[in-house]
Amino acid sequence: MNSQQPRALWASRLGFVLAAAGSAVGLGNIWKFPYIAGLNGGGAFVLVYLLCIALVGLPILMAELMIGRHTRRDAVGAFIALEGRKSFWTCTGWISVTAAFIILSYYSVVAGWTLDYIYRAVAGSFSGQSPEAVEGLFGRLIADGPRQLFWHLLFMLLCLAIVIGGVQKGIERWSKILMPLLLFLLVLLFVNGMLSDGAREGLIFMFRPDFARLTPASVLEALGHAFFSLSLGMAAMITYGSYLSREENLFSAGLRVALLDTGIALMAGLAIFPIVFAVGLEPAAGPGLIFQTIPVVFSRLPGGYLLAIVFFLLLAFAALTSAISLLEAQVAYLIDEKGWGRKRASGFFAGLAFLVGIPTALSYNLLADWQIIGSLNFFDSLDLIASNYLLPVGGLLVALYVGWMWKGSEEKAELLSGGAGPVYPVWHFLIRYVAPLAVAVILYFKLEETGLVAWLLSLFGA
Ligand code: PFF
Repeated sequence: MNSQQPRALWASRLGFVLAAAGSAVGLGNIWKFPYIAGLNGGGAFVLVYLLCIALVGLPILMAELMIGRHTRRDAVGAFIALEGRKSFWTCTGWISVTAAFIILSYYSVVAGWTLDYIYRAVAGSFSGQSPEAVEGLFGRLIADGPRQLFWHLLFMLLCLAIVIGGVQKGIERWSKILMPLLLFLLVLLFVNGMLSDGAREGLIFMFRPDFARLTPASVLEALGHAFFSLSLGMAAMITYGSYLSREENLFSAGLRVALLDTGIALMAGLAIFPIVFAVGLEPAAGPGLIFQTIPVVFSRLPGGYLLAIVFFLLLAFAALTSAISLLEAQVAYLIDEKGWGRKRASGFFAGLAFLVGIPTALSYNLLADWQIIGSLNFFDSLDLIASNYLLPVGGLLVALYVGWMWKGSEEKAELLSGGAGPVYPVWHFLIRYVAPLAVAVILYFKLEETGLVAWLLSLFGA
């Protein structure tokens, strides 16, 4: 461990909340949450999602922050400090840092698409075009390897520039600039949505409770998304917690992060759907919604030129503050465990993530036929491994460790310092029983759904 320098801390509570909320608020809030809410029963789903955040997400978020704050180390070092190098629990740190690395490598490629769309929005590529032409732009982008590599490189350099600046002068400073800007842009789009002709339809799509559509699968979807959305299981929150002052109330800090994350996801829906309905389109999912439907909407709306720029800037800011938390989680490992300097550590992992991102950027063109898991290309395989398996496994281990293994008095003292004591009994119950059970259920269904077991068996010729 690098003991020469005192550990950096966040300069203020606001700085921490904005940095952690920056990690949580990402592409998932904008392109996934609104859509799954609309499809799975609107208000009924939103209600279930809020319960998942409160009963599973927030307790695990607090547990990750506690581990980081208690040990003042990166995610791998934290478990070494708690249980020793040879302990089984150290694999929790490894799994989460690996997940952070894998996710950063492709998150950066997707974030690169948002940069490309800022450029197109500024160049006015959407206006005066037929819907087919506007939709076709996305297909042209993912068919163009070099173009994606250029934006991927640029995005990674932006992350690198911020993380090299360090905890206070890089991450905290930029979160304090980017998050308020993001909020401001979102409020603009939200007001625009609420004033549009589709406001009523948008509100109905997202909020009218339709319990008939709320299936057990929707509940799982809500749980899985709550987990991804709060950046859990990926070393990011353990690392950010390691820079948190012991005076800080972990419950109220975590609550603020969860509220911002959820509030922004809800607002994103109310910014997007009203305008989609206003021009008579149907909402699509994921990348199709963001890179095809929305640009068509902007090409038809008055003021669409400016709105498009605002929207893609918003997406890029959301992606950037998430990506820096992923990079920091890895950089902290090299600094804390290997004694590397911040510059070298940041350059190393940003460079490596760039390299691993190359086949991702080529996954829909040059390497489209390269199938890794089943019929999945490189990009989809990485996403499957990281978000479906590593993330829930990492989160489950954190919940089990903090709920069952961590010596009671230490864990209680950790929560008490900073004054979150009154919530201890409730939190303890949730982290011991509710959270591990819920994450185990997600994991089981992911394994079944994606056929990993069948794939493993096929490898052995069974
Ligand atoms: N929470 C981000 C989102 O909702 O898009 C994704 C993410 C970022 C997950 C950072 C994990 C992480 F460490």
